[in-house]
Amino acid sequence: MTHQKKNFLEVLKGHKPDHIPFWFMRQAGRYLPEYRELRAKAGGFLDMAYNPDFACEVTMQPIRRFGMDAAIIFSDILVIPHSLGQHLEFVQGEGPKLNPLRSASDFSSLNFSKFQSTLTPVYEALSKTKTALQNEGFGGTALIGFCGAPWTVACYMVEGGGSKDFMNVKKLAYQDEAALQGLMEILVESSAQYLIEQINAGAETVQIFDSWAGALDAQSFRKWVIQPTRQIVDLVKSVHPNVPIIGFPRCAGNNYLNYVQDTGVTAVGLDPSVDTKWAARTLQPLVPVQGNLDPICLLAGGDQMIMAVEKIIGDLKDGQFVFNLGHGINKETPVENVETLVKVIKEYPL
Ligand code: CP3
Repeated sequence: MTHQKKNFLEVLKGHKPDHIPFWFMRQAGRYLPEYRELRAKAGGFLDMAYNPDFACEVTMQPIRRFGMDAAIIFSDILVIPHSLGQHLEFVQGEGPKLNPLRSASDFSSLNFSKFQSTLTPVYEALSKTKTALQNEGFGGTALIGFCGAPWTVACYMVEGGGSKDFMNVKKLAYQDEAALQGLMEILVESSAQYLIEQINAGAETVQIFDSWAGALDAQSFRKWVIQPTRQIVDLVKSVHPNVPIIGFPRCAGNNYLNYVQDTGVTAVGLDPSVDTKWAARTLQPLVPVQGNLDPICLLAGGDQMIMAVEKIIGDLKDGQFVFNLGHGINKETPVENVETLVKVIKEYPL
């Protein structure tokens, strides 16, 4: 079988691509009518994520429409607390709900007894998707596995869902650092094992989502974002030294540079607030960068969007660069706007 070049992996490995590789965070999801249809059949979100056939199908949906350079496996960052025994539900329209864990004694209820067996369907979904990509003629599309970073996952575990100010988890960090440290150790160990198994099942690269990295002061950022991420990177690299690891410390601002220098990630995802000229000067000499169109700009569409896309590409194309959004696609995004975006990226002269 001839091996097709995967431009996304080429960029992550520091080589020159034939075209600008692109994929979009949350590219599988409710903005697609075919997703909404399958979601209605599958029942709940978790029923879909833990069913390898559904998860594979949903992962393939955006690839069939848009031919992205990467497919990200359909799952969620919260399968880690769930597989460690924390109660999790996705309530329609309200997002995730967990029973909050707020102290060392709460954390002692977490356990590894059903950890790998709960996650087995995700590994099966990865190997099915790897085969589906080959069989359906997407040999140039790479497969991405992922997890949440310990800090972001801890935010959901301690708050019991989304939060505006993360008061409970931050209070714990200041009042009982040892308790939070204990939770972080569990999350480092479980997340690293999870990524290693995803790679064993066919993931060719992995992304660590730290969606709430921006909620911390610089000192806390070192402790709760950089250190645990570094530990996961070291653990994964000790088993899979050549698999690229993408870090996405969303809204890290000034801390982006320290993150890149000190975590050991192979590449970094930029949120929309990062100045692309600054990233080209400061980050791109160190690692490939990925990003960073504002998903609301995509939702709004029109000439403004096209100009924003051209600026991002213009600023970053001379270094190692993967086009992406700066955060996940919103469910209200018109599919036509995504079509236009893909056309602009594909037609950009390199
Ligand atoms: O296409 C992809 O990017 C792959 C799948 C994916 C999902 N969640 C599917 C999903 C990925 C990579 C995630 C990561 C994730 N999940 C993050 C990190 C990235 C980010 O967005 O900041 C976070 C914080 C979560 C936690 C989570 N999951 C929330 C807050 C929600 C509710 C918000 C919402 O959009 O409803 C989810 C649910 C979720 N995860 C959906 C999808 C497609 C919507 C579920 C549905 O169909 O109702």
